[in-house]
Amino acid sequence: MTIRALHVASELYPLLKTGGLADVAGALPSALIERGADVRVLLPGFPAVLAGLHDLQPVARLGRRFDTADVMLERGTLPANGLGVYVIRAAALYDRPGNPYLNDEHVPYGDNAQRFALLGWVAAQLAQQLDPAWSPQIVHAHDWHAGLAPAYLKAAERQHGRAPARSVFTIHNLAYQGIFPAHQFGLLGLPDDFFSMHGVEFYGQLSFLKAGLYYSDRITTVSPTYAREIQTLAHGGGLDALLRHRAHDLSGILNGVDYTVWNPASDALLATHYSASRLAGKLACKEALQKRFGLAQKSDALLFGVVSRLTEQKGLDLLLEAAPEIVRRGGQLVVFGTGDPALENGLQRVAQAHPESVAVELGFDETLAHTIIAGSDVVAVPSRFEPCGLTQLYGLAYGSLPLVHGVGGLADTVADASLENLADDLATGFVFERFEPKGITAAIRRAFALYGRRTEWKAAQRRAMCQDFGWGASAERYLALYRELV
Ligand code: ADP
Ligand code: GLC
Repeated sequence: MTIRALHVASELYPLLKTGGLADVAGALPSALIERGADVRVLLPGFPAVLAGLHDLQPVARLGRRFDTADVMLERGTLPANGLGVYVIRAAALYDRPGNPYLNDEHVPYGDNAQRFALLGWVAAQLAQQLDPAWSPQIVHAHDWHAGLAPAYLKAAERQHGRAPARSVFTIHNLAYQGIFPAHQFGLLGLPDDFFSMHGVEFYGQLSFLKAGLYYSDRITTVSPTYAREIQTLAHGGGLDALLRHRAHDLSGILNGVDYTVWNPASDALLATHYSASRLAGKLACKEALQKRFGLAQKSDALLFGVVSRLTEQKGLDLLLEAAPEIVRRGGQLVVFGTGDPALENGLQRVAQAHPESVAVELGFDETLAHTIIAGSDVVAVPSRFEPCGLTQLYGLAYGSLPLVHGVGGLADTVADASLENLADDLATGFVFERFEPKGITAAIRRAFALYGRRTEWKAAQRRAMCQDFGWGASAERYLALYRELV
C-alpha cells in the first residue's frame, strides 16, 4: 500500500534555508518517495519559495484567514526533482524580504503566531480534502512552525468523530518553542479547552512546540542521543516531563546526508574534486580556501573550518577561547556564519588579532559553505547542545575530520581519535566530553598529534569518507512509523 504523507515545514533547500531544517525538508521527502511513499510538502509562500517553484497552479481560494485577506493555496513542483509542493500565498503575512522569522533588528515578527498558525491550519485542511485530487494519511510536521497542525487535526477529530489523518511531529531543535502571549490563543480558532496544561498552554503562555508535542500521534527527534537528552530536566527546555510522559511515542531517527549535494567527487560548487581513493584534490581545495580568506599559503598548517549559525547553541565562544592554542601550534582557523551580533563582533576581534592564521567572514552563502567544508582539515562543531548536526556529517564525507562536543547527534556520528579507537580502526574525528577550555583544548591537541602522523591521518580521512550517513536507513524508519500509524 502506498502511504500518502504531507511534510509541513517553514524552509526547504534549495528554495529557502537558514539551517539544517531546510536540508532535511529538501532531502527526506525524496528519500521516502524513492522507497514507495507518496509525499508532498507544504510551505509558507515566502518570496524565495514562490520564485523557485515551477508550474504554480491554484488549488483553493481560502479568502480571509487569521485576519489576512486573499489567502490562496497553490501547488507547484521543485525544478530539481519534480517534488510536489503546496504553498500558501498570503502576501500580507509572508511577502517580506530577508529572514523568514526575524525582522532586520533580529526580532521575531509581531505576527508570527498568525503566520505559522496559518501553516498548521492549512495542513489540517489538506487532510480534509482541501485539494480534491490528493489528501494525506500522515501529516508530518517539523518544528514549532508547524506545531499547530496536530492541534488542528485533533480539533477536527473531535468535531467529526474521526481523525482526518495521523500526525508525526519532528523536533529539530527544542530551543525554539514558538511562544506567544496567552491572548493570541483567541486568534487560532481552536476549542477553548485546548488552552490548558493538557494542551497548548505553557506556563501561562501559548506554545506552538508544545502543541506539536501534545497533540501528535508520534514524536521524533533527529538523533537517538538527543531523544534521551531532552527527557532530562537539564536539557528538556521545560518540556521534559511531557516528553517523559510520551516516551513510548518518542524516537530518535538520525538525519541523513544528501550525497547528490554533498559529495567531494561531484560537488558542483567546487573547482577541484577528490574522493577517498584519490585524495590529492583535497590539497587544491585547501589552497583555494586559504587564498579566499587571505590566510598564509601553508599546505601543512592544520586548518580548522567552521560553517555555522552564530548562536549560543553552537559553542563558538569556547572555540574562540581555544583559538590561541590553534595559532600557537601553527594551525589556522576559518569561521563563516551569521547570527548574534555580539558573537559576530567577538569573532572578528580574534581574527584581527591573528590575521595570518584566523579569518572570520559574516554571511550566508552555499558556495562558501562547500568551499570551507572541502578545504578544511578539521570541521569544528563545539556546540553546547546539538539535536543532530549536519556539518559534522558533511565534514566526514569530505574527509575533514570533525572536532565536536560529545552531545546529541554529534555523539552519535563521530568516533574520537583515542588510542583504542585508533587501534581498532574506528576513529573518525575528535570528541570532547566536558564543555570547557580544557576539554576542547585536549581535543585540539589530539588533532595536531594525529596530523603529525600522516599515514594514520589519511587512514582516518578515508574511514570518515566511507561512512554511510545517507538517508536510506532513516527514511526506512520513518516509513515504518507511518505504517504503524495508518
Ligand atoms: P543548524 O540547523 O542548527 O543550523 P545543522 O548542522 O543541522 O545546524 O545545519 C546547518 C546547515 O546550514 C548546514 O547545511 C550548513 O552548511 C548550513 N549553514 C550554516 N551556516 C551557513 C552559512 N553561513 N552559509 C551557508 N550555509 C550555512
Ligand atoms: C536543527 C538542529 C540541528 C539539526 C537540524 C536538522 O536546526 O539545530 O542539530 O541537524 O535542525 O534536523
